[in-house]
Amino acid sequence: MFDYHNKHVLVIGGTSGINLGIATAFAQAGARVVVVGRNHDKINEAVEHLQQTNPNHQHLGVSFDVRNLEDVKAGFSQIAAMLGHIDVLISGAAGNFPALAESMSENGFKAVMDIDLLGSFHVLKQALPLLQLVKGNIIQISAPQANIAMAMQAHVCAAKAGVDMLTKSLALEWGSKGIRVNSIIPGPIANTEGFNRLAPTAELQQEVAASVPLQRNGDTKDIANMALFLASPLASYVTGAIIPVDGGWSLGGVSTAMALLAQKSQQ
Ligand code: COA
Repeated sequence: MFDYHNKHVLVIGGTSGINLGIATAFAQAGARVVVVGRNHDKINEAVEHLQQTNPNHQHLGVSFDVRNLEDVKAGFSQIAAMLGHIDVLISGAAGNFPALAESMSENGFKAVMDIDLLGSFHVLKQALPLLQLVKGNIIQISAPQANIAMAMQAHVCAAKAGVDMLTKSLALEWGSKGIRVNSIIPGPIANTEGFNRLAPTAELQQEVAASVPLQRNGDTKDIANMALFLASPLASYVTGAIIPVDGGWSLGGVSTAMALLAQKSQQ
């Protein structure tokens, strides 16, 4: 349905889960994809998977930690040499662990703020010159925690709320450059590390599914489809939007479900 032949797509955190699902969908639609991660084995596996998905391009992997500005700058020098320009940037680096604020270390809070918020700023800023060449666009992968307070997630709530305000602020500043910036808020997406951490048993995952108005947990393809749409000309008048793709979870069920998870994880 979407044609990304010969487009250049950079996926930060693209070695697994939702972000790898997005990388795969763009490769299937014809794009050349570069994934960024921290773990070399996971990067190699992801690139091999993309190569099998679309053998017409040489897909590549780059390793850096989004928290470290010098690493990010060095990584973007490599990316500039590989791609020349970026049509679509998926900013999806994230860190999470469940902990009550009163027992969370300051460094634990900072680690998540640095990965999710400062890391996003580092990446978007370094990507700007490569995006500007082609009026490319940016999709940030946010989380329900950006809007809905959740027990044991104070660090993620604070960081992701910041990520979405970064989306809106940069959409405002970079609109005149022809660059669109949007956020996707995924709901509970099955078979992802993030969801498995928050709902570690099949029973809990079924309870979450029952709290979703559409009565199922999501698939990584649900998120990838929204990314394909947002980066396409069909969405050419959409910028600064924060879009839930969650089967209606954020309409109310999420608060109940997360309260339940928090309660169970303390038992
Ligand atoms: N519970 C409590 N604190 C934790 C923690 C956990 N499960 N995991 C990390 N932290 C704290 C550490 O104790 C440390 O703080 P300290 O110095 O006061 O002890 C701080 O976070 C940094 O942790 P570190 O070990 O240096 O690892 P990191 O910098 O690689 O941290 C995290 C990355 C914090 C995101 C870590 O939780 C992690 O690696 N998570 C797995 C990957 C992930 O989150 N994927 C995304 C899923 S959505």
